[in-house]
Amino acid sequence: MLSGKNILIGITGGIAAYKICELIRMFKRANANVRVICTPNALNFVTKLTLQNLSQNDVGIEEFELKEFKPEHISYADEADIMVIAPATANTISKLANGICDNLLTSIACAFRKQIIIAPAMNFGMWENKFIQENIQKLQNAGRIILEPESGYLACGYEGKGRLCKLETIFDKTVEVLKTEKNLSGKKIVITCGGTIEEIDSVRYISNYSSGKMGIALADAAYAQGADVILISTVNVIKPYRVEKVKSANEMQIAVEGEQNSADCIIMAAAVADYRAKNIANHKLKKTKEDEITIELVKNPDILKGLCEKRTSNSQIIVGFCAESEDLIKNAKEKILNKGCDYLIANDISRKDIGFSSDFNEVTILDRNGGIKQLPRAAKTEIAKEILKEIYG
Ligand code: PMT
Repeated sequence: MLSGKNILIGITGGIAAYKICELIRMFKRANANVRVICTPNALNFVTKLTLQNLSQNDVGIEEFELKEFKPEHISYADEADIMVIAPATANTISKLANGICDNLLTSIACAFRKQIIIAPAMNFGMWENKFIQENIQKLQNAGRIILEPESGYLACGYEGKGRLCKLETIFDKTVEVLKTEKNLSGKKIVITCGGTIEEIDSVRYISNYSSGKMGIALADAAYAQGADVILISTVNVIKPYRVEKVKSANEMQIAVEGEQNSADCIIMAAAVADYRAKNIANHKLKKTKEDEITIELVKNPDILKGLCEKRTSNSQIIVGFCAESEDLIKNAKEKILNKGCDYLIANDISRKDIGFSSDFNEVTILDRNGGIKQLPRAAKTEIAKEILKEIYG
């Protein structure tokens, strides 16, 4: 099943380290080539000789124990198709989240450019600790896969959440990541996300409820499939791919158009404000005696339409989204013609269980030839994969 795949297992100093001996055997039985690195503390729970025999490879522990003229952390990172850190202690998790490289394992993880699966295991109090949870969140935001620990009896004598997840869970997730086809490799995909922010004065602005989740899900899915992703975002996110932060529709337009010529595909998932204040005061506007005031608005550029008009190559795919609260399909049919894009993803933003800010969506994909495909309600992460499948087959 994993023939030809190189799996790098990182073991840290927790009691669950002994369980990883069986995980190595599972990967070996699936014909993977397994290399193991340990933190020095891991050797308090499992021996180097055991890991060496099971993996049938040298086990890396010391950073400066060079066997050849190649920095160890770079060569391990270069060879592997995936890195699995299990068990991951609170200590190592915190180092990974903050870029600390004080041993071979943390240095390799920092240099690693492919996917890292992290399976934490620790005392339940440590797992619930605010700083550990923040670090877990940081790693997730950066695209790392966290396999949450399970609840039950812990080696420290307490009951709670902290046990290493099942080895089958780690094995299955590793297979899933390795089997995800890199069919978008070599493609440059530009994706916008979030609601634009149109300033009124130095403290007030016009915006909308877009969280950026839909665009981020698309960017993550495209990246997982090997694409060169550029996310143009109004929300702050840390990702393993390039993220360009913008605020207003004008800034977004400059950023997207700057990438257009070299892009194979552009997906406009952002909720772009149609209007902005005509004049932006550079100070806080004072309350007046009037009960009513008027803010003059002017039209923003239609970024999507502009991209479709300016496209120079027929092979460039341009995808728009369509947010409607009524007559979804009728409006979407008109919008795809008006904008001139290849695909339009229509979603009903009047529903609370999908659309703006939700983790879920339900969409209808329209294509320029009149084709219509409905996707049932699902997590945005799943909808994103389906949209990419529709575009690239
Ligand atoms: O971010 P989330 O919380 O996950 O929510 C996701 C979403 C609901 C924002 C997303 O799924 C979505 O529907 N995005 C498009 C929102 C929108 O602006 O729709 P629209 O129908 O007003 O615009 C149609 C298309 O034109 C969109 O691709 C939009 O990016 C683009 N547009 C709109 C106005 C404008 N001035 N320039 C544009 O490029």
